[in-house]
Amino acid sequence: MLWQKGALVLVNAHILGTGAYAPKRILTNQYLAELVDTTDAWITGRTGIKQRRIAAEGEVTSDMAVIAARHALAMAATKAEDLDMIIVATVSADMPLPSCAVIVQAKLGAARAFAFDVSAACAGSLYGLSIAGQFIQTGKARRVLVIGAELLSRLVDWSDRNTCILFGDAAGAMIVGPAHDRRRGLLSTHLHSDGTAAEILSIPGGGSQHPQSAEVLARKMDKIAMNGREIYKFAVRVLPEVILEALDANGLHVSDIDHIVPHQANARIVESVLGRLGIPLEKCWMNLDRYGNTSSASLPISLDEANRAGRLKPGDLIAMMAIGAGMTWGSALMRW
Ligand code: UT7
Repeated sequence: MLWQKGALVLVNAHILGTGAYAPKRILTNQYLAELVDTTDAWITGRTGIKQRRIAAEGEVTSDMAVIAARHALAMAATKAEDLDMIIVATVSADMPLPSCAVIVQAKLGAARAFAFDVSAACAGSLYGLSIAGQFIQTGKARRVLVIGAELLSRLVDWSDRNTCILFGDAAGAMIVGPAHDRRRGLLSTHLHSDGTAAEILSIPGGGSQHPQSAEVLARKMDKIAMNGREIYKFAVRVLPEVILEALDANGLHVSDIDHIVPHQANARIVESVLGRLGIPLEKCWMNLDRYGNTSSASLPISLDEANRAGRLKPGDLIAMMAIGAGMTWGSALMRW
C-alpha cells in the first residue's frame, strides 16, 4: 500500500514464479480395473482420466509441497528466507496438528515467514491466492508462497469405484509478490461457499463429530465419501456464473479471455462449463489425463505447466476457476 499525493494506492499482486511436483509412481486405468469393477473405457469416457500419480511409501504431503515450492522459488529468483508468508491449501496434511504449512516452513528454512493452512478442498489454492493477493495489495507482505498439496491416495477407499478412479497425488506452488507493471497482475478474485451442500463430498470420520474409533475405521468413515452426480450438477451451474461475475466486475467479456486455467476434476465438467460460456477448448490447459483430480494441487500444477510451456504471454488475460468440497468455489482473473 502506497500513499501518493495524499491518496491510498493499492499495489497489484502478481505471480512471480510457479512450480509443480508429482510422484513418480503411475497408476493406470488398466491397473484399477484389476482392483475394482471398472474399465479403462468407462474411466476415460466419463472423466477423461488415463492415469494418476501415487506417492511413494514414506513420502508425505509436505515433501511434495517443498519440491513444488523450490521450483517456484527458483523461477521467482526468491530465497526461502525472504518469504513473508506461507499458505498451504490442503485437506490431506501430514497430520491433524500442526499445520502442513509450518512443516513446509521448517523444511524450506523460511524462518521469517508466518505459515498456515487453508481448508477449502479443491478450491483451496484459489482461496490461498486470494488471501496472498490481499496481503500484497496492502503492502503487508512482499513475498508469499501459496501451495496446493494433496496426498489423497491415503484418504481414498480403494474398494470404492466411485472415488478411487478419480484422485491423484501432487503439489503445485506459486510465489506471489508486487507487480512491477500496474497494468498486470491479479485483477480480482471471487470466492463462494455453500455449506448446505457439505454432505455431497466429505470425510465424515476422524473429527470431533465421529472421533477416530474402531467403528469409524470399520465403516470406512475416514475415507472420502462422494455423490459425484450432485457435484457434477453443482459445478456446471456455478462455474460459468463465477467466471461471468469476474468478467463483469472488470468490465471485460468472454472473448477477452486468452487462457482458462481450471481445477481439473472431470474433463466433462470443464468441457460443459466452457461450452456454456462459448470458450473454445484450445484456450484451456488440460492435464487431467495424466494426473487425475489432484484437488488443491490441480490449479497451480496446470498454471505451472502452461507457464513452462511458454503458453502464457505478458499481457494475456487468464481466468482461473475451481470448485471443491464444502461446497467451495471461485475464480481469479489475472493479466499475465
Ligand atoms: O473436485 C471435486 C471432486 N469430485 C468431483 O468433481 C466429481 C464430479 N463428478 C464426476 O466426475 C462424475 O459424477 C463421476 C465420474 C464421479 C461419475 O460419473 P457419472 O456419469 O455421474 O456416473 P454416475 O455416478 O451417475 O454412475 C453411473 C453408473 C452407475 O451405475 P448404474 O447405477 O447406472 O448401474 C455407477 O454405479 O456408473 C457406475 N459407476 C461405474 N462404472 C464403472 C460408477 N463408477 C464407476 C466406475 N466404473 N468406476
